[in-house]
Amino acid sequence: MRKILVIGIGTGHPEHITIQAINALKTVDVLFITDKGSEKDELAGFRREICARYVPERSFRTVVIPDPDRDRAPVDYQATVAMWHEQRAALYETLFAQQLEEHERGAFLVWGDPSLYDSTIRILSQITARGTVQFDYEVIPGITAVQALTACHRIPLNRVGEPVQITTGRQLAEPLVNDTVVMLDGECAFRKLSDDQLEVYWGAYLGTADEILLSGTLAEVATTIQQMRAAARARKGWIMDTYLIRKPATAPR
Ligand SMILES: C[S@@+](CC[C@H](N)C(=O)[O-])C[C@H]1O[C@@H](n2cnc3c(N)ncnc32)[C@H](O)[C@@H]1O
Repeated sequence: MRKILVIGIGTGHPEHITIQAINALKTVDVLFITDKGSEKDELAGFRREICARYVPERSFRTVVIPDPDRDRAPVDYQATVAMWHEQRAALYETLFAQQLEEHERGAFLVWGDPSLYDSTIRILSQITARGTVQFDYEVIPGITAVQALTACHRIPLNRVGEPVQITTGRQLAEPLVNDTVVMLDGECAFRKLSDDQLEVYWGAYLGTADEILLSGTLAEVATTIQQMRAAARARKGWIMDTYLIRKPATAPR
């Protein structure tokens, strides 16, 4: 049966990749590429570097999957994303049937880990539910931006016995869980928070040569983060950043 491997590749450092991922790459026939927009060249370059470094002997066929247009600020977010997934599922399904022989293996190299803010697994499970193309799929974990962030700042993610929340800039709101990680934030959503004594650990382009780190209370670093973020985005044309917002400790960490 056809097989699709969903391989987590980490967030930009070529050594984030696991041995399990390298061994999986050695078996791949077709790489499906889904990058879009201005990040495209650099992310594609990173994938090329991973393949060249770890599986130089392997020559993959490459299939670029076009991204269906979608409204980035829709009124009904859930419905718009569901429709976009549906369009992607139909597209993937056709490409699997056309581009993969029955005995072959395809792969998606997913930024970070495939379980975190990534649609690939959801779309594959949607296609299997449709039952039109027969295939199996396997997920290989990767280092997430959350792990890259905490490692770079040399901090534990949770406080002793405490919960952690991972959310998006769009959803960030008070009251906060003691430790909240924010991803997918194009708007510096921390500006909405009223408590300027909250601690923030911010990182952009984590794991890459352009990595930027900043930490302090919101009062100390909020403006600098906004300025550095805007300058870096203008310089490179794109940015990926993640931050942890932490209530000041009242108990041991
Ligand atoms: C679509 S999500 C993908 C997350 C990914 N699957 C993971 O495991 O980290 C993209 C978001 O991840 C975060 N991100 C990914 N790579 C990053 C990096 N190198 N540095 C900082 N944040 C990153 C940013 O918040 C970005 O908006």
